[in-house]
Amino acid sequence: MPKKRIAVLTGAGVSAESGFATFRDSGGLWEKYDVQEVASIEGWYRNRALVLDFYNDRRRQLADAKPNAAHYAIAELEKDFDVDVITQNVDNLHEKAGSTRILHLHGELTKVRPEQGLYDRTYRTDEVIDIGCGEVHLGDLAPNGQQLRPHIVFFGEAVPNIEKAIEIVSRADILLIVGTSLQVYPAAGLYRYAGNQVPIYIIDPAEVPVHDPRITHIRAVATKGMEEFKKYLRNQK
Ligand code: APR
Repeated sequence: MPKKRIAVLTGAGVSAESGFATFRDSGGLWEKYDVQEVASIEGWYRNRALVLDFYNDRRRQLADAKPNAAHYAIAELEKDFDVDVITQNVDNLHEKAGSTRILHLHGELTKVRPEQGLYDRTYRTDEVIDIGCGEVHLGDLAPNGQQLRPHIVFFGEAVPNIEKAIEIVSRADILLIVGTSLQVYPAAGLYRYAGNQVPIYIIDPAEVPVHDPRITHIRAVATKGMEEFKKYLRNQK
């Protein structure tokens, strides 16, 4: 009997209990930094050093960050289900917790790549370099001689993995959404690609901006919500 497929879409909330600030909660990152200055393509071309510092700072935080029980519970789903994690997060906590199929929609903090000319944003995947929790500064060049930039999808850039994410959600038997305000597209629209009969579970302590008869909102933090989600799964067996 093939295992049921679970697609898990995560956002900053799944890493909140690992000590990472989310973006839009009170005290979130976008309260401290101007997102247009540090996380948009225009901000990059306006002030590369500021953007490099912002991501160097977030990479430093990653050095001793640990997955929390929610990351581990998501990884453990793989024992009984065929699991794909689609994350908006750029941290590597799903990897550290042992999830084996992870699709990063907004890039990865530990990776950098050559900056392309203003009108040529393409890059080859073999040009992506993993620097772990290291730093990148102005003048640090890629082998092709171009300035290295964060391997992050800046606001204003395309989301190359969105088609793959749509394919994963459209074939899922269960969709689980953990810790995202569902305000940033195209990620926020992914749930609409789940089949009409597919149950959708959303784990979030706050109200969520989507209303759909397939949705069960587990109003809790990720670590507690995952315990409740596992009860739903046991009842579905
Ligand atoms: N457990 C679960 N959810 C939580 C927790 C927690 N402990 N704490 C906060 N949350 C929820 C908040 O209620 C909110 O719905 O996590 C969500 C965080 O929302 P955002 O801060 O908007 O983060 P996210 O949805 O991941 O942002 C999407 O925006 O800035 C861009 O690229 C960035 O990937 C990010 C994207």
